[in-house]
Amino acid sequence: MKPYIARISGVLIIAKGMRGSRMNEIVRVGKEGLVGEIIRLRGDEAFIQVYEDTSGLFVGEPVERTGEPLMVELGPGMLTIAYDGVQRPLELLKASAGDFVSRGLSAHALSRDKKWHFVPKLEKGIEVVPGDIIGEVQETQSIVHKIMIPPDVKEGKIKSIAKEGDYTIEDIICELDNGSKIKMYHKWPVRFPRPYKKKMEPTRPLITGQRILDFFFPVALGGNSALPGGFGTGKTVLEQTLAKYALVEIVIYIGCGERGNEMADVLTEFPHLEDPFHGGPLMNRTILVVNTSNMPVAAREASIYVGITMAEYYRDMGYNVLLLADSTSRWAEALREISSRLEEMPGEEGFPPYLAAKLSEFYERTGRIKCLGKDDREGSVTAIGAVSPPGGDFSEPVTQNTLRITGALWALDTSLAHRRHYPAINWLRSYTLYYGLMEDWYRENVSKEWPELRRKASEILQKDAELQEIVQLVGPDALEEPERILLETGKLIREGFLAQSAFHEIDASCPVEKQEKIMKTILKYHESAVESLKKGRPLEEILNPELVERIIRLKELSPEDFETEKKEVEKEIESLKEFEEVKG
Ligand SMILES: Nc1ncnc2c1ncn2[C@@H]1O[C@H](COP(=O)(O)OP(=O)(O)O)[C@@H](O)[C@H]1O
Ligand SMILES: [Mg+2]
Repeated sequence: MKPYIARISGVLIIAKGMRGSRMNEIVRVGKEGLVGEIIRLRGDEAFIQVYEDTSGLFVGEPVERTGEPLMVELGPGMLTIAYDGVQRPLELLKASAGDFVSRGLSAHALSRDKKWHFVPKLEKGIEVVPGDIIGEVQETQSIVHKIMIPPDVKEGKIKSIAKEGDYTIEDIICELDNGSKIKMYHKWPVRFPRPYKKKMEPTRPLITGQRILDFFFPVALGGNSALPGGFGTGKTVLEQTLAKYALVEIVIYIGCGERGNEMADVLTEFPHLEDPFHGGPLMNRTILVVNTSNMPVAAREASIYVGITMAEYYRDMGYNVLLLADSTSRWAEALREISSRLEEMPGEEGFPPYLAAKLSEFYERTGRIKCLGKDDREGSVTAIGAVSPPGGDFSEPVTQNTLRITGALWALDTSLAHRRHYPAINWLRSYTLYYGLMEDWYRENVSKEWPELRRKASEILQKDAELQEIVQLVGPDALEEPERILLETGKLIREGFLAQSAFHEIDASCPVEKQEKIMKTILKYHESAVESLKKGRPLEEILNPELVERIIRLKELSPEDFETEKKEVEKEIESLKEFEEVKG
């Protein structure tokens, strides 16, 4: 019996005559050959999630098996491209179908015609193993693409390797004595993590240029962090700021739009972002995976695997890759919809019981690793997953399950956003489990004093929060004088350090050295003020709104102005202490 469509339920198709198919096999559905994936098998029936709009399909139409799981193509040409959830280039899709994604179209992820300038790095006769770099291609102005022996090729001796020159990805550029023929690209099944030699401890931070993150809640390079926040709290702005300023070589942005035109915005905005490190467009080291709201949910479900597989591939070259997912809630909702069509037993709030397992499968693919290959290179994938809990309530299943897995929480807060304190990351609710392992890195690479500054500042913020509560209940008069000083320092930390506008020309990103200097100045202010009070100077003389304002503005100054102003401000801070007790 030839396979055919027996039932259609939205994105889910039930096909008969499918005996012998495999789980996760890709099939072509209907006359138009829509792309689908088998997600359940029962007797000769297969349940297929279809990555395209299923309207117009009819019962009885044929289904064709491919024998392959969902794969991505990995090779030069991915950077600068915006893909859909199953790695079809959006430009191509658009070009072939007006404004709509064309149905059943098998657009290649990588161009078959484009020629790349290949430079061999190894010679004939050399033994190679998977992961070994046999040559290089300048993929974009800023990124060199390493051509590696794919993980599933057997080791062997190089029998021939192409001379330096221009080749397409279909040209064979290397042959091994065991018969393997190597091209500049290969395919990889997205639901299988790519292999590596070993995972390293998360001892190095991902430097983001965002003070609240680098100083208080750093995520490790190769770690992962959850970014939950209600509507309008700044998830998208923060993810895009990280895309721009985080110290990584490659950025992969997976967008599952919340609002109708949000992804259209991403597609228009990203190409205009500038790369602060290399100049030129940020897209030179970025790949977008974009699900617009009119794309079927199944493609959204696939998109995070497509994204992380591409991330692992650049990791394998020895790069640090940042994977941004905005928002994973939309992805979880896709899971929920497919599960309900499968009539599975629902778990909490209708999400399937395997939501937690799926989330951890995804986040477990992050890490800093020793790459395959004979050399000793390291690479990393760090993931930041935005979560959009309905009503900003973190007790819902997607937020809760994400928090069980990720090593850091950056909790976005509606009330901070209302007060226009950005980034609206709540410093009392956020945490990082990585800091302990990374403290030595900060001590050795930024400053010996970093841990002590961080400890003192955290203490002040804690105390500040307690005092704020008292003030709200009984007013500021209830506070002792030293507490009034602490409130002032709290304000300095909040406004002069934690708050950071993503749109400020200078302050959008802040180097760690500058972060340390600002914090030191603030804490000096605190010590001087406390000392001065002890000496008996009246509080009104110590609290100096003009000086406070100047400290708050330090962050906005260019490097030269910053140094000059800091010196002057510190002189004034010193002079707070110059007080001779008048004895009566
Ligand atoms: N770091 C920031 N600096 C300045 N403004 C911000 C920042 N983060 C958020 N905003 C403001 O908040 C608005 C909503 O942010 P957005 O990222 O779209 O929220 P979400 O994605 O959580 O719905 C932005 O348009 C911007 O005006
Ligand atoms: Mg958003």
